[in-house]
Amino acid sequence: MKTSLRNVIVLAALAASIAGSATAGDKPECKMFGKTADGKEVMLFTLKNANGMTMEIMSYGCIVTKLTAPDRDGKFADVVLGYNTLEEYIKATPYFGAIVGRYGNRIAHGKFTLDGKEYTLFCNNSPGDIPCALHGGKVGFDKVVWDAEPVSKPGVQGVKMHYVSKDGEEGYPGNLDVTITHSLTDKNEYRLDYELKSDKATPANVTHHGYFNLKGEGNGDILGHELLIKADKTTPVDKGLIPTGALKPVKGTPFDFTTAHTIGERVNADDEQMKFGGGYDHNWVLNSQDGSLASAVEVFEPTTGRAMEVLTTEPGVQFYCGNFLDGSNVGKTGKPYKFRNGLCLETQHYPDSPNHPEFPSTIIQPGKTYKSTTIYRFSTRK
Ligand code: BGC
Repeated sequence: MKTSLRNVIVLAALAASIAGSATAGDKPECKMFGKTADGKEVMLFTLKNANGMTMEIMSYGCIVTKLTAPDRDGKFADVVLGYNTLEEYIKATPYFGAIVGRYGNRIAHGKFTLDGKEYTLFCNNSPGDIPCALHGGKVGFDKVVWDAEPVSKPGVQGVKMHYVSKDGEEGYPGNLDVTITHSLTDKNEYRLDYELKSDKATPANVTHHGYFNLKGEGNGDILGHELLIKADKTTPVDKGLIPTGALKPVKGTPFDFTTAHTIGERVNADDEQMKFGGGYDHNWVLNSQDGSLASAVEVFEPTTGRAMEVLTTEPGVQFYCGNFLDGSNVGKTGKPYKFRNGLCLETQHYPDSPNHPEFPSTIIQPGKTYKSTTIYRFSTRK
């Protein structure tokens, strides 16, 4: 049988409409989500892919408010924790779905020295009663309104978010120009492409702080999720959750996820590191350290069959299993998010690197653009 080009196009269009495809380069839908106290408009973008996935992201904090993924029977659930309204995000959030920065994770005592000068940051956190700057300080990247521009191409719906953090903001040097393109692809991926530039040397460690629950948000704890982390070492911490500087082999410890284990299996182990974090809240040193995009983590939820793979160009990942969730945040379907009801996989450089010259550098040098990519890829298994 001879197939003309016209027939191929008609068939492709038909197949796409059956699958509900909205990704032939279409722009994401965009609507007003609300206004901040100082009157800034916040936009909400709805991204869709050819396989029926939906992602919502807003210009306040680049917060992903919704991300749906199918289970092994094709049933969709929203797999990220969050709220329905901007007001709730402004009022109280443990960084649900947000971009954190300038510095994701902790800087000890809110201090670092760069090129002979000491800088002081706002300390907004104090594990073990030891103050530190966490996730950017008082008003981090999760609490500002980003410029947002829809960008799409065939097979990808995207939003480019842009923010310039002014010289001196939160105590950091240099005007830091940050562009993050967030995309939902027809390969069932949430993809983040980061580009950072500065006019003065400055530390930066920007990451996505989504809380995932592959059973669906609000459906209980994540302890039955199976996890595999492609890392032979972690950066152990002191009681202030600051890295000691050591790289500790995971072999023979509850931190060994080089083969898959459920999160619950060893989370309550009698282990000093686990006590400091109240569970898993540590940085794994990924085996891939050359800056290429490599698979870092695999997560599998056996009751639904949902799986998520995390790929990154970054050298580390903070695996945090929601130890500080205590039911006080009531989520978008009215259910309180309790202890360990969500898990974060924050691809990053190591915490407190500005005070650890032995760690890979987090300094953005003027005239150089720092680029980084992370992908959260969804699939299902039997
Ligand atoms: C940190 C936790 C912190 C949480 C804030 C995580 O990235 O590792 O220690 O409590 O963010 O919600």
